[in-house]
Amino acid sequence: MYSEYFISLIAGLSLSATAQAADKMGVDVFNSVCAACHTTGAAGAPKFGDKTAWGKRNEQGLAVLIKSAIKGKKIMPAKGGHPDLSDLEVARAVVHMANAGGGTFKEPQSADIAKALK
Ligand code: HEC
Repeated sequence: MYSEYFISLIAGLSLSATAQAADKMGVDVFNSVCAACHTTGAAGAPKFGDKTAWGKRNEQGLAVLIKSAIKGKKIMPAKGGHPDLSDLEVARAVVHMANAGGGTFKEPQSADIAKALK
């Protein structure tokens, strides 16, 4: 009884560890999806590395930025138009971009994502 419980617990833990490792890093998500608009500034997207453009955005706080990126904001499509990305992958790309624009955000945690989506 107990050993079965432990086996499923351990199996569950290693599964979630795999899921985390499988999530792409922010820089990869940025390069493959977000760069299309955020490198050129297409459609008014704040440009990567532009501290003036990102300064005001970053002041809104990480939760607001993550929410905009996951749910979309005006022309900015939800998840950059890639619904296959996990919330964590999108959040990591947000931090990658926001910090390149002068932000000092830490690696996003599930609590940041929960706050953004509440
Ligand atoms: C189709 C073009 C396009 C793609 C692709 C795109 N964005 Fe955007 N993004 C925009 C535009 C346009 C804005 C400005 C929206 C506004 O405030 O009107 C924006 C704004 C943002 C903001 C600021 C939101 C705020 O609340 O100030 C974040 C964060 C962001 N994008 C993250 C991302 C991430 C992360 C990706 C990749 C997963 C991505 N974007 C892909 C066009 C795009």
